[in-house]
Amino acid sequence: MKAYKRKDVNVMGVRKLEEWQQKEAKPTTKNGLLKSILIVTLLASFTVLIVGGFWIFENMAPRPMEATSSDGEVVMTQDSIIGGQAVFQKYGLMDYGTVLGHGSYMGPDYTAEALKVYTVGMQDFYAMKEHDQAYADLNQEQQTVIKEKVITEMRVNRFNEETSELPLTDAQVFGLERVEAYYEDVFKNGDGWGLKAGLIQESHVPGEGERLYVADSDQITQISHFFFWTAWLSSTERPDDDITYTNNWPYFEDAGNTMAFSAVWWSGASVTVLILFVGLILFVFYRYHLGMQEAYTKDNYPTFNLAKQSLTSSQVKSAKYFLVVALLFLVQVMFGALMAHYYVEPDSFFGMDWIFELLPFGIAKGYHLQLAIFWIATAWLGMGIFVAPIVGGHEPKRQGLLVDILFWALVVLVGGSMIGQWLGVNGYLGNLWFLLGHQGWEYLELGRIWQVILVVGMLIWLFIVYRGIRNGLKKERDKGGLVHLLFYASIAVPAFYIFAFFINPGANFTMSDYWRWWIIHLWVEGIFEVFAVVVIGFLLVRMKLVTKSSTVKALYFQLIILLGSGVIGIGHHYYYNGSAEAWIALGSVFSALEVIPLTLLVLEAYDQYKMMRDGGVDFPYKATFWFLISTAIWNLVGAGVLGFLINLPAVSYFEHGQFLTPAHGHGAMMGVYGMFAIAVLLYSLRNIVRPDKWNDKWLKISCWTLNIGLAGMILISLLPVGFLQLKEAFESGYWASRDSSFLQQDIIQELLTIRAIPDVIFIIGVVILAVFAVRSMFHLRPATHKEGEPLPIDEVEED
Ligand code: HEM
Ligand SMILES: [Fe+2]
Repeated sequence: MKAYKRKDVNVMGVRKLEEWQQKEAKPTTKNGLLKSILIVTLLASFTVLIVGGFWIFENMAPRPMEATSSDGEVVMTQDSIIGGQAVFQKYGLMDYGTVLGHGSYMGPDYTAEALKVYTVGMQDFYAMKEHDQAYADLNQEQQTVIKEKVITEMRVNRFNEETSELPLTDAQVFGLERVEAYYEDVFKNGDGWGLKAGLIQESHVPGEGERLYVADSDQITQISHFFFWTAWLSSTERPDDDITYTNNWPYFEDAGNTMAFSAVWWSGASVTVLILFVGLILFVFYRYHLGMQEAYTKDNYPTFNLAKQSLTSSQVKSAKYFLVVALLFLVQVMFGALMAHYYVEPDSFFGMDWIFELLPFGIAKGYHLQLAIFWIATAWLGMGIFVAPIVGGHEPKRQGLLVDILFWALVVLVGGSMIGQWLGVNGYLGNLWFLLGHQGWEYLELGRIWQVILVVGMLIWLFIVYRGIRNGLKKERDKGGLVHLLFYASIAVPAFYIFAFFINPGANFTMSDYWRWWIIHLWVEGIFEVFAVVVIGFLLVRMKLVTKSSTVKALYFQLIILLGSGVIGIGHHYYYNGSAEAWIALGSVFSALEVIPLTLLVLEAYDQYKMMRDGGVDFPYKATFWFLISTAIWNLVGAGVLGFLINLPAVSYFEHGQFLTPAHGHGAMMGVYGMFAIAVLLYSLRNIVRPDKWNDKWLKISCWTLNIGLAGMILISLLPVGFLQLKEAFESGYWASRDSSFLQQDIIQELLTIRAIPDVIFIIGVVILAVFAVRSMFHLRPATHKEGEPLPIDEVEED
C-alpha cells in the first residue's frame, strides 16, 4: 500500500475506503488501451500466420506416388523422394549447400543445380533428336527453337491429383537420368570443392525392409530424386496458374524462370507502406510520450554499493553458466574461423587433411550455428537465475540444487548433441540418425532426443525462475505489470520451441520449412526481441534509472510494434520455398515494418549512453551499458538495415541464399543477441564477482574489438562478396552464383582471404572475454543470505 493512498483514505472516510478496497482487489486497468491493442495485434497476427500456413499446405507441390515415362515405366516414386530427403538430412547436407535456397552458402543450391542439369538434359534430348548434336553445338537459331520448346514443355503441370501420378515426357525422363548420373558422380567422387568423396554409403543403413525414412534402394539415387523433385516444383506451374510452385525461383531463363510481377509490385508497395507507418508510428510515439523516462535528476543519481549487495547461493551458482557462455563462444568462433578457411582451401586446413577428414565444412557449420544458440541461450538462462531471487525477495529452498541440475543437463545436451551430430553425419547411427544424430535442418541440427532434453531444460529453468519471482508476481497487482511481463516473456522462450516437434522426416519440405521458421524467425525476431526489450526495461527500472510507469508503457508500445510487424514478417522466409504467392505480399510489407521498432531502439541507446555518462566514473555497470548500446546499434544496422537490404522480394529473388544473408545474419544474430547476451552476462557477474577484482579496462577493449571485428567482417568481406554474387545471379542465372567456380574467382578469393584481419580482431575480443570469465570464477563473493531469508531489496515500486 502506498503512502498517498493512505492519505486519500483518511479524507475519504469509511465508505470510500470500502469502495477503494474493492477496487484494489480487482485487476488494474492500467495501460488498458495498450494492453488491448497488444492482445488484438497478437491474435490478428497469429491468425494470419495460421491461415497463411493453411494456404501453404493447400498450395504446396505434391510428391507424386509414381512418376512414369511414356512407356509406363516407373522412374521415380514418392518413397524415393521422401527417402532422398531423409538421406539429404541424415548427412547434414543442409549445412553444406541449400535446397530451395535454404541452408548453407558454401556448397551449391541443389535445387538450382538440379534444375540446370535437368534443363540442359531436356535441351540435349531435342538437339540430339532433331540435329544429332549436343545443344551447346547448335547455332543460335536452332537453340532458340529448342529452348522455347523445352520451357513450354517443362512448365506444364502433368500431375494427376486423382491418381497421384506424374507422367513425364521423354525429354523430362532424359533430364531426370542426367540428374541421377550427375549426383552419382558428385557423391561418389566429391564435388571438387568442400564435399567429401564417398560421403553416402549403403553400409550406413540397415538392410532392405529394416530402414526408417530411407527407402529400399540406393541412397544416392534417392537423393537425386529429391533434388529432381525440387527442380521440378521450381519449374512447374501451379494448377491453373502461370507461376511455379516456388513463385518462379530460382532465376534461370532457360527454364523460363523469371521474376514474377508480384515480386516487383510488393517490393514497391512494401517501401510505400513503410514510409506511411514511419510517419504514423513516430506521431504516436511523440504524441503519447511512449519512451522511457529517467527516474533521477542531476543530484539524486542512484548509488550502488556492490560489496554490500545481497547475494544468495543460487546466484553464486549461476556464475558457472557465464563461464560456459564464454567458453562456448570461444569454441563457436573457432569453428567459424575454420569455415572461413575452407572458403579458401575447401578440403584441408593449411595442408592438414586430417582436420578436414574429422571436421569438414558441414559439421563445422552445424556446430557453429548450434553453439551460437547454446551460448546465447545459456547467458539468458544464467541471467534469469541470477535475477529471480531479487525479484521475489528471497531464495527458495533448494534453488541452488536445481540450478546445479540444470547446469549438468545443459552440459549433457551440448556435448551429447555435438557427438550425436558427428556420429550421424558419418553414418554410424543407422536408423537412429533422426533421434540422436543430425536432424538435417539448418539451425535445428540436434537430434530429437536432444531437443526433448532442451525443452526439459528450459522448463526446469522456467520453474527455477518462477519459484524465484513468485512473491514478486503475487505482490504485483497489475497482471500486465513489469514482473508479469518478465514472466510471460520467459514462458514464451520454451513455448515457441515446441514447434520444433512439428517437423518430422517424411513431411513435405515446404511444410517443414514453414514450421522451422516458426522457431528461427519467431524466436529471433519475435520472442527473443520481446525478451530482450523486457529484460532491458526491467534492469533499468531495477537500477532506478528509469521510472517504472513510463517503462511499462514504453514496453507495451514496443511489443505492439515488434510483434505487429515481426510475426507476419516471417513471410520473408516464405517467398520462394514453395509457399503460396500471397506470402510475397504479406512477408514484404510486414517485415519492412520491422525496421521501425529497431530504429526507435537507437533513441533508447542514446538514453542509455546519457544515463551511463550521468553515472560518472563510479557507475559500476559501465561494461553492461557498452554492450547494451552495441545491441541497439546492431539492431539498427545488422537487423534493420542489412535485413532490409535483402528483404524486398525483387532483391531476394536473386539474393536468397547468398552472401548478403550471412552479412545480415551476423550483424543481427551476433550484433543483437550476441552483444545482448554479453551485456546480461556482465550485469550478472558484476554483482557476483568481488568488486575489488573487477576491471573494466579489458572489457572495454573486448567491446571495441568485437564491434570492430564484426563490422569489418561484414563490410570488407561479406557485403562485397554478396554484391558480386547478386550481380552474378542477375547476369548468369542463380545456379551460376552458387557454383564453386564463382567462389574460386581471384577477386572473391581475395575478399574471402582478407576477412582474416577482422576475424582475428573479433577473436581477440572473444579471448579477452573468456579470460575475464575464467578469472572471475576465482573471485566470487560468498552468499550473504540463506534460503528463505528475506532479502533487503527495494521492490520495484509503482511510481
Ligand atoms: C534481431 C533481429 C534479426 C535476426 C537475429 C535475424 C537473423 C537472421 C538470420 C540468422 C538469417 C539467416 C537465415 C539463414 O541462414 O537461412 C536471416 C535471414 C533473413 N532475414 Fe533476418 N534477422 C533479424 C531481423 C531481420 C529484419 C528486421 C529483416 C527485414 C527487414 C530481416 C530479413 C531477413 C531476410 C529477408 C532473410 C532471408 C535471406 C534469404 O533469403 O536467404 N531480418 N535473418
Ligand atoms: Fe526473419
